[in-house]
Amino acid sequence: MNNGNIPFLDLITPHMEMEAELTDVFRRAIQTAGFIGGPVLEDFEQDFAKFCESRFCAGVSNGTDALRFALMAAGIGRGDVVVTVPHTFIATVEAITQSGAEVAFVDVDERTSNMDPEKLREYLQEKCTQDAVTGQLIDPRKGMPVRAVVPVHLYGQMADMDPILDLCERYGLTLIEDACQAHGAEYFSQKRQAWSKAGSMGVAAAFSFYPGKNLGACGEAGAVTTNDEDIARKVRMLRDHGQARKYYHDVEGYNGRLDSIQAGILHCKLHHLAKWNQQRRQCADRYKKILSPLAENLTLCSQTSRSVYHLYVVRHAQREELQAHLAANRIGTGIHYPIPLHLQNAYRDLGYKKGDFPVAEKLASEILSLPMYPTLSPEQQQSVADAIGQFVTAHAVLTT
Ligand SMILES: Cc1ncc(COP(=O)(O)O)c(C=O)c1O
Repeated sequence: MNNGNIPFLDLITPHMEMEAELTDVFRRAIQTAGFIGGPVLEDFEQDFAKFCESRFCAGVSNGTDALRFALMAAGIGRGDVVVTVPHTFIATVEAITQSGAEVAFVDVDERTSNMDPEKLREYLQEKCTQDAVTGQLIDPRKGMPVRAVVPVHLYGQMADMDPILDLCERYGLTLIEDACQAHGAEYFSQKRQAWSKAGSMGVAAAFSFYPGKNLGACGEAGAVTTNDEDIARKVRMLRDHGQARKYYHDVEGYNGRLDSIQAGILHCKLHHLAKWNQQRRQCADRYKKILSPLAENLTLCSQTSRSVYHLYVVRHAQREELQAHLAANRIGTGIHYPIPLHLQNAYRDLGYKKGDFPVAEKLASEILSLPMYPTLSPEQQQSVADAIGQFVTAHAVLTT
């Protein structure tokens, strides 16, 4: 494929395979002028809610808006502190700060790359103080009450939700899932003795349908899922200028709707999502098998719950050289993400410094995302493994 190139992502094949179906969505939209709202949007919302085992879904314009609207609809805003991780895409924090709230970081778990529940416990119990009157936990940096936690289900794997939910319950915190990379991921709750879907475990959850996601639009799109009818109603108002009835604005909202063409496209693709996720899992199993012999020199990220492998990430101390070697072999890779958020220029004012979140910093310097998509062939995966093997062997020779 592509003259022997192995791209990081293949967004062309699935769209060519679905060309007739997808263009039909567009044809129906122009024949009916059904561009905003209506049954195409509502049908998708209903089926995506079902897919996530959640009661409600509200389509919005992108994942960042989904997270911001979810927080706002849950009553989070100015004067509140929201806890999340520094090892995520910047949108997680943009949504928090743009809701009016302040952000506090806790480090991630090296094995899963997700929020470390022990670090969350340490922050809540050892760093925060308790307000004598309200009993609320007060963030030591901001002097404001901690109101919410946003775990990110990074790379397609859900965060360790049982202990995080326990802490939220104990301290009266609202849990909003950043499920933007985890459409269909599942977590086995020891507490409930059952599997739970991403998007069904928090007060609300945010999904992104950016084109490269496991379920991706042909443009920008996102959604909020929730079991809370009032939150669903508020998100629907926030996405539509604060109105539930045309030109009667109860609050100031946003232009944050999911358009019907994207909803129709997503609905077509939703029928394939379980199969695509299964194909990604097969690819991940294959990577694990063929890369395991290199485990002495290459760290494979462990995915403990039922991941949907939005990304397949490995770690190597000489990541830049490994990436350059793979590029020379016409193999595309990515880095998700090279600079943890507490060290980004945009968040200099938060006052964090290098060394504050050592696990996130270590991951950022070593991680490399390999090609991963449903149409990735065993031969392509073998070529990736061979090229990594060459690098690892050459490096081992150089260092002896
Ligand atoms: C973890 C995470 N959160 C939030 C977002 C924001 O989604 P969007 O790009 O649709 O606004 C993304 C998208 O890449 C993401 O990966």
